[in-house]
Amino acid sequence: MPDHAVEFRHVVKRFGQTKVVQDLNLSVPQGRLVTMIGPSGCGKTTTLKMVNRLIDPSEGDILVDGASVRQQNPVELRRNIGYVIQHIGLFPHMTIEENITLVPRLKGEKKRNLLGKTEELLDLVGLDPSIYRHRFPRELSGGQQQRIGVARALAADPNLVLMDEPFSALDPISREQLQDELVKLQLAVKKTILFVTHDMDEALKIADQIVLMKNGVMVQNDSPDQLLRHPKDEFVREFVGEKRFSSVGRTLNVQDVLTSAVTIAANRGLAEAIVVMRRRKVNGLIITGSAGEYLGVLGVNEIYENYGDELSHVSDVMSKNAPTATLNTDLPTVLMLLEQEGRGYIPILDERERLVGVVTRASVISAMAPPLINEVKADEPVMANVSGKLE
Ligand SMILES: Nc1ncnc2c1ncn2[C@@H]1O[C@H](COP(=O)(O)OP(=O)(O)OP(=O)(O)O)[C@@H](O)[C@H]1O
Ligand SMILES: [Mg+2]
Repeated sequence: MPDHAVEFRHVVKRFGQTKVVQDLNLSVPQGRLVTMIGPSGCGKTTTLKMVNRLIDPSEGDILVDGASVRQQNPVELRRNIGYVIQHIGLFPHMTIEENITLVPRLKGEKKRNLLGKTEELLDLVGLDPSIYRHRFPRELSGGQQQRIGVARALAADPNLVLMDEPFSALDPISREQLQDELVKLQLAVKKTILFVTHDMDEALKIADQIVLMKNGVMVQNDSPDQLLRHPKDEFVREFVGEKRFSSVGRTLNVQDVLTSAVTIAANRGLAEAIVVMRRRKVNGLIITGSAGEYLGVLGVNEIYENYGDELSHVSDVMSKNAPTATLNTDLPTVLMLLEQEGRGYIPILDERERLVGVVTRASVISAMAPPLINEVKADEPVMANVSGKLE
């Protein structure tokens, strides 16, 4: 298989006199998640649709796994490329199972395989197959329907998945959850994903590579860390800067406080770590692996000492020996650890060493005075499901 799942070669798209995509040259490496981001109308959707031939280029060529899309039958091509859009458009009269297995059925896959496939895919997107497989789309929430959309896009086991603002119609909490799941899923199934968004926070959270577009022109194509460190011009600076921080004030509810620990994936860079810490207003991050397993912690010291090394990942500089506890550790012990440990938080792991949350001084206080929990500020990484067990 060629190194690149998608290659745009001098691609131009004109609608009438207007060039909406101008001489696009872009390679999407196999197995990576590339986000395309830019203001409304800059040509993101058009670019995506040229890959599966919902739109044909005016000039240039696009290769998918090394073969020109021009030479391929559009219907066949689309069956081999996953596609997820904002309002997913499940078929209302089909069950979830029928929706998910539609393309494999069209491709003539055996009934036996399909049975296991539904189960596997629902598991993958975090929905219990025994509950959801026989339901109809209207019996699912918006976020659950988007998950089905992701499952459906993966059903024919495509090498490539195109996603056009798949989460943008969702509330902030479902959105963050789905972003987390997509990152995990990407690590697990190694698909190549071309993901369109106009939310820089989303791009920074999930992307291996970010392509910034403006008026149909690719302005910068870099890793998130490089984009943050070296924005090419004022436009990029503004886009990664002010736009990104505008979402800081979003309101979090108790549920959000209950479940969100401030974590970062092992392969992220240090500039990214700083942005996450600033955004979440915490002085430490917890590094987790692809299965949610705890790996270590990262504080200001580790970042400060290693920041000059642009190639280092958070997992290279994290501390692996910080104290941790489990849900069964008694509170005095956790408090003692908290006192001894200068970082201000103790990661809590389950019996399989996966991170379930953190205990901070603030979370302990709110557990001792439960009615005040609504007063806990969103910037405190409180895990109430942990603190709730501390009485
Ligand atoms: N079928 C069409 N005919 C004429 N112009 C079109 C057509 N489709 C898109 N355009 C124009 O092409 C430009 C790019 O559109 P596109 O949908 O690719 O933008 P986008 O980056 O996806 O924007 P958004 O963030 O709003 O989804 C826009 O100016 C749009 O008006
Ligand atoms: Mg669009």
